Amino acid sequence: MTELNASIPLEIEQLKALEKKHKIDFVLDDIQDLISESLDGTTRVTEIVNNLKGFAHQDSTDKKKMVDINDCLDQSIKLVHNELKYNTELIKEYHFAPLFYCISNQLSQVFINLLVNASQAIDEHGKIHILTQSKGDQIVIEIRDTGCGMAEETIQNIFTPFYTTKEVGKGTGLGLSVCYDIIKSYGGRIDVQSTLGEGTTFSIQLPIRESDTQ
Ligand SMILES: Nc1ncnc2c1ncn2[C@@H]1O[C@H](COP(=O)(O)OP(=O)(O)OP(=O)(O)O)[C@@H](O)[C@H]1O
Ligand SMILES: [Mg+2]
Repeated sequence: MTELNASIPLEIEQLKALEKKHKIDFVLDDIQDLISESLDGTTRVTEIVNNLKGFAHQDSTDKKKMVDINDCLDQSIKLVHNELKYNTELIKEYHFAPLFYCISNQLSQVFINLLVNASQAIDEHGKIHILTQSKGDQIVIEIRDTGCGMAEETIQNIFTPFYTTKEVGKGTGLGLSVCYDIIKSYGGRIDVQSTLGEGTTFSIQLPIRESDTQ
């Protein structure tokens, strides 16, 4: 009995030590989660910063030149071919479009963002129709898809930086706001028409200046 009594404080100490250890285990589990969440966050921030830096970098280093819009579209299509090939049938309808004085990488960035969005909006299989033409003093580029379309609330927000309906890690919500800024910087406009369940059309207008036709 005395022996038993004497061992109790020891067991209590051992139990307390165990309890402490388990608390530490909980904390360690939490730390694991915190670290992986922080890593996810850091990766996302890096992606966003790279996206912004890419835009700023092109702006300051690339030179403006006369760009054939149809060639620029074809180059952009090549760059996103892997993303489009599984679910998308591309239909090109290129009409005569004058050369446009711009930084070709910037225009390409616009086309790439629109094409990737269109492909991501298509579930199993769909079409992306690309049309170029000149109308009066405007070059018109239309990218139309037979994807999921957008609800009114989405349409209202698409050009807002960081607005996305895509799952975490898939979209930063910067694509269209970058497109908007680039097109605006050339004095153009970008409009959207969309019907939920039917598809979406992005339409870009760029002003043809005297210098562009020479
Ligand atoms: N063609 C489209 N069809 C349907 N919804 C679209 C289409 N294009 C854009 N959207 C909607 O607009 C939102 C914003 O598009 P945006 O390109 O700016 O960001 P994102 O594609 O979500 O992310 P990021 O382009 O930065 O990877 C999308 O999340 C999507 O809800
Ligand atoms: Mg996008």
